[in-house]
Amino acid sequence: MTTTNQDGSFEQLAGVPSAAQLTLLANQLFPDLTEGVDIYGTGAEAADVRENEQAAYAAAAEADGFAPPAGAPSFNWEDPFAYGGSAAGAEGVFETAGVTGDNGSTGGTAYAPKVLSAEQAKALEAQQNQTDAPEKAVVSGSQTGSEGSIRIGTKTLAQIRDDFPILAEEINGHPLVWLDNGATTQRPQQVIDRIAHYYRYENSNVHRGAHTLAARSTDAYENARRIVKDFIGASSAQEIVFVRGTTEGINLVANSYVLPQLKPGDEIIVSILEHHANIVPWQLIAQKTGAVIKVIPCDATGQLILSEYEKLFTRKTRFVSVTHVSNVLGTVTPVEELIAIAHRHGVRIMIDGAQSVAHIPVNVTALDADFFVFSGHKIYAPTGIGVVYGKKELLQAAEPYHGGGNMIADVTFERRYRQYC
Ligand SMILES: Cc1ncc(COP(=O)(O)O)c(C=O)c1O
Repeated sequence: MTTTNQDGSFEQLAGVPSAAQLTLLANQLFPDLTEGVDIYGTGAEAADVRENEQAAYAAAAEADGFAPPAGAPSFNWEDPFAYGGSAAGAEGVFETAGVTGDNGSTGGTAYAPKVLSAEQAKALEAQQNQTDAPEKAVVSGSQTGSEGSIRIGTKTLAQIRDDFPILAEEINGHPLVWLDNGATTQRPQQVIDRIAHYYRYENSNVHRGAHTLAARSTDAYENARRIVKDFIGASSAQEIVFVRGTTEGINLVANSYVLPQLKPGDEIIVSILEHHANIVPWQLIAQKTGAVIKVIPCDATGQLILSEYEKLFTRKTRFVSVTHVSNVLGTVTPVEELIAIAHRHGVRIMIDGAQSVAHIPVNVTALDADFFVFSGHKIYAPTGIGVVYGKKELLQAAEPYHGGGNMIADVTFERRYRQYC
C-alpha cells in the first residue's frame, strides 16, 4: 500500500492501512471531488424531486398490488447498515400479541394441532363434511373431470390452474398436469409478478447501501421476514433466518448450534423417516466429533413408535431432529409429542418442515419447537430461499457458520467485533 506524505513523496505502508491513512490518501488524491457536490440534494427543489420519485414508486407498488401494509417499518436512514436494517426500532409494529391464530391471524385462539387416531379422523371428517361442505374439495357427480365444477376451498380447479401460467403448457399434446409438489411447486403468477416487481423497481444489495434502492430492497426483504414470522407464528422477526433451503438450514443448525456442544459418545436422535438432508449433516458432524446417531423406528404402517423414541434418551442425548411429514410415506409425525418428550429430557429439537409447511398450519410458538426449517420452493416461493426458525436465545447461543458481510460491526485483521448472531 502506498500513501503520499504532506511533502508529496510516496511511502510504502506495511500491512493494512488504517481508516485515517485511507482518508488522508483519498483527500490527497481526490481533493476536489466532493466539494460543492450535494449528493443527496437539499432545498425545496430536491425535496420535490424525491417526493415525486417516492410517489411514483408507491403508485407502481399499488398498481402491481405490492403496496407495503399500513404501519410497515421503513428503512432506517440514520443507521442503514444496522443488522435488521429497517427493523431497528420498529420491532413490535408487526408483532401479534402472544401466540397467533392459524397462520398469523391475530387475536384467535392458539393453533393447537392434534394427533388423531384413524377413527377420530374419520369422525372429524364426517362432521366437517356436514358443516363446511362448500369449503371442502368436492366433485359434482355428473360433471366429474370438469375443471369448472371441481371446487377446492372457495375456488374452482380452473381458477386455481389459471394462477399458474406454466400449466398452460402442453406436454405430449396434453395440458400439463403437475403432481410433483413434494419435489418442488410451480409458481403462481402472483409470485412471478412480485419477483418481476422487485427487479423492475427495488433491486439493490439488501442491507449494504445507503441509497434509495437499498432502502426499497431492504424494506421488501425485512417485510418478507415479518410475513414469514406471522405465517409460522414465531414471536419475533428476529427468530427468522433466511437460508437457501431446508438442506442449508439443517446444516446451519447442525454446525453452528449442535456441533460446538458435542463430545465423543454424545448422541443425536433422528427418525427412520428422514430425508437425506436430515441424515447426512448429522453423520458429518458425528464423524468430526465422535458423536453417535440413534434412530426412532416406525411400525408397519409407517408411524413413529413413541415408546421406542422415549427409550433412546440417555444422559448423553444432545439433540433431536425429526421430520414433520415424511417425503416418502407422507406420514404425519406426532410433533407435539416428539417435542414434549425431548423437552422432558432437557433436549432441544428441530422439526424438518419441508413437506409439512405447505399443507399443515404451523405455529412454532404453540408447538414449542426449538428450530423449524423449510424450503421456499416447496411452498410456491422462489427457488434458492428457505427459512430457519430458531428460538432467539438459541440463535444467539449459536456460533457463526458462514462468515461475511453484515454480521460484524467492524472488521480488521487484528480484531473482530461480533455485532449480532
Ligand atoms: C422432508 C424433506 N426434508 C428436506 C428436504 C430437502 O429440501 P431442499 O432440497 O429444498 O433443501 C426435502 C426435499 O425433498 C424433504 O422432502
